[in-house]
Amino acid sequence: MLKRVLDWLDERIEVRNLWETMTNRPIPGGSSWFYVLGSSLLFVFALQMVTGILLTLYYAPVPDHAYQSVKYIQEEALFGSFVRGLHHWGATFMVVLVSLHMLRVFVFGAYKKPREVVWLVGTGLFLIVFGFAFTGYLLPWDQKAYWATVVGTNVAGTVPVVGGFLLRIIRGGAELGDFALSRFFTIHTYILPWSLALLAGLHVFLLERAGAGGTWNAAERTPYRSEPLFPHQIFKDSIFILLLVLALSSFAHFFPAPLEPQADPTDSTYNPRPEWYFYAVFQMLRIFEGPFELIGTVVLPTVVITLLLLVPFIDRRPERDPWRRKAMMTAAALAVAGVMALTIAGARAPIVGVPAVTEESALAGRQVYARSGCVACHSIHGKGGTIGPDLTGVGARKDRAWLDKFLADPQAVKPGVLMPKPDVTDSERQELVDYLLSLKQ
Ligand code: HEC
Repeated sequence: MLKRVLDWLDERIEVRNLWETMTNRPIPGGSSWFYVLGSSLLFVFALQMVTGILLTLYYAPVPDHAYQSVKYIQEEALFGSFVRGLHHWGATFMVVLVSLHMLRVFVFGAYKKPREVVWLVGTGLFLIVFGFAFTGYLLPWDQKAYWATVVGTNVAGTVPVVGGFLLRIIRGGAELGDFALSRFFTIHTYILPWSLALLAGLHVFLLERAGAGGTWNAAERTPYRSEPLFPHQIFKDSIFILLLVLALSSFAHFFPAPLEPQADPTDSTYNPRPEWYFYAVFQMLRIFEGPFELIGTVVLPTVVITLLLLVPFIDRRPERDPWRRKAMMTAAALAVAGVMALTIAGARAPIVGVPAVTEESALAGRQVYARSGCVACHSIHGKGGTIGPDLTGVGARKDRAWLDKFLADPQAVKPGVLMPKPDVTDSERQELVDYLLSLKQ
């Protein structure tokens, strides 16, 4: 029966031929457990699509209902907690797998001619995976989701000149509210899945055209100088995927995805902590403060992404043996060590430190504060000088009128005060006041 169906199809669309070309792709040097990462990523992505679609059956992307709908999924819907757990851990697995995959390709020198374009598209995929993680974070609309996204989107607000504009596009307004949630939902469920699917298709297609890289010493290898994908590689891929399914379901079952209390935009005392794979980025925001903020939010990320994209063009020698690519391997080892150190530091750092400012003008005020040398005398969340009083909770102590008057001319309010008159314009002073008022803890 099956044979007859196949014959029928074969006569029309040459299915056997298709199967042949797909499974006969030669792997120089033979199959390897190192090559299972790419196919497992495709698998986890497919699983994320399925669990994601299941979640949207109950999820309501509006602030009034988002939290309740996730709570319903978590507590009442049939298999809801398990499906959400799969989706939650699936995201973590994708982040880990895509990083390992990229590292593997790097070590094997597989990005070299003729596979440069495959690497470029791959870097795009890598970024998309993180985009998924970031946008998915907000959707449950719990405290953690809300405040981690406030801090995350603040990054856009620090971009010179267009920062406020960017922030407004991302959040759909100055505050993180209705529009932000539907924007994040749209990006997470339409834009990113389509981009990933198309780019992943292109990635595989380009690899097919350029040919798999295989090992660097394929020419000297016996018995496998070259081996088709089927059966050994496909067997290894399947075993690994099976193990992944087991691991993912255990995680989903034994460690359900967390859900904190519902987001409360008025509670600026909440100290957000992102998912662990964003610790490194979070830590950079902590290291580069005040006038150096831009280094952490714009300069370094741009440099890192540009360098990643340029890898195949920086290292153009045909040599692929990692032992003979000392400079590149050292650079990669340093980069990995750097990311790990930042992640560990981020995990250990006290949760306080990044004021979770929401309003655009307060955010602008934070920059004025950084520029105007206030840090020399005042400290906020434990950072800064001690000549003036700690300003961490100043928004609760003072009101707008007092702050405005005091900042306009400290001497007039408190004759003899050690504080110099801030050298700011009237609108900058308003922003400063907004920022200080946001410090309520
Ligand atoms: C040279 C040190 C110095 C600098 C620079 C400085 N301040 Fe002050 N500031 C002080 C001192 C000292 C006080 C305490 C005045 C008092 O109550 O006697 C103070 C008080 C304040 C207060 C009132 C706090 C409270 O709880 O009573 C605010 C608000 C304030 N400063 C904001 C700022 C801002 C904003 C900047 C930057 C534009 C700034 N300060 C720069 C020294 C400084």
